[in-house]
Amino acid sequence: MDNVTRIGVSLEPELLKSFDDLIEKMGYEARSEAIRDLIREALTKEKIKDPECPGVGTITLVYEHHKGGVRERLMDIQHQHHQVISSSIHVHLDLDRCLEVLVVKGTVGQLQALADELGAVKGVLHGDPVIMAEGVLEEAEGHEH
Ligand code: NI
Repeated sequence: MDNVTRIGVSLEPELLKSFDDLIEKMGYEARSEAIRDLIREALTKEKIKDPECPGVGTITLVYEHHKGGVRERLMDIQHQHHQVISSSIHVHLDLDRCLEVLVVKGTVGQLQALADELGAVKGVLHGDPVIMAEGVLEEAEGHEH
């Protein structure tokens, strides 16, 4: 990383021990990376309170495909929101249930509204969005892929 500022943090020993145990369990090799991720998480939480904030994410749906009109309803809603749906994956889980993952990009307000609308369709067993604030991801300098 080229451009970093070092900071000192004072912590009670018990708190530090708990933190070290936690991040070891999570697989972090260094405290700095764990702290950076926590800061990004906090910034994201704050930013996605703003419905105008640009966001990216996924909406995961599980539904029973033969329940009255559920497929048609979900398809109608997806077409109405075509500007924010980048891609979708459909997996036939078993005889009755389908898993669908939508990759979405738009304002946080648009993504949340779409997730709410899809989740409220009768026959949808599970509808969960994962929404990230795009700006925070861009600030994640030095993140290795
Ligand atoms: Ni299916």
